Amino acid sequence: STVKLLGISGSLRTGSYSTAVLEALRAALAPEVELKVFRLNDVPLYNQDEDTDHPPAGAAALRAAIAAADGVILASPEYNYGTSGAMKNAVDWGSRPYARGALIGKPALVLTSSPGSTGGIRAQAQLRETLSAAGARVVTYPHLAIPNVLDKVDGGAFTDEKTRDFVLGGVKALVTEIRLLASAKAA
Ligand code: FNR
Repeated sequence: STVKLLGISGSLRTGSYSTAVLEALRAALAPEVELKVFRLNDVPLYNQDEDTDHPPAGAAALRAAIAAADGVILASPEYNYGTSGAMKNAVDWGSRPYARGALIGKPALVLTSSPGSTGGIRAQAQLRETLSAAGARVVTYPHLAIPNVLDKVDGGAFTDEKTRDFVLGGVKALVTEIRLLASAKAA
């Protein structure tokens, strides 16, 4: 059956490279693997008072999208050496309700990018740690960090073959994790 992935962009802006990388990846994966791109613009700030089985609509939509996916790809920019507030907020919503969060046990691949030369590796490390706290099954290798992202994507496609293959290798590791989990559940 077709693998269903959810790509969450950690940047809200229209011209986001994080979103552009996900769109390029969606095009490269189709039709064998389905990747839905989720933007966080309508997700409110996490508030534990509203953390019930009926949270605000934007949070409910995020949780439902994570729950419906076999695995998630978190594409994040680096803001001041960490992940964006929007992405951290998304993981917080996905980690709850306590012990029943949509991210618990969910295979997750972290992808960071930056116009700069570090590729957002500090945000990558931080986001991995946060995701492990949330109970996600974080793909440990490869570390998908894309430096100089302006030269790597354009018009909804990868413009650099090495970058495309690097990212596809990460998705392959995610799909392997999904299949291992499925066979363990069946055993
Ligand atoms: C940045 N940027 C940035 N880049 C980086 O490599 N390391 C960093 O720590 C930061 N810090 C940072 C803080 C804030 C508040 C902003 C707005 C930007 C630059 C950042 O990588 C660049 O703006 C990206 O284009 C943002 O990602 P999107 O929106 O293109 O996905």
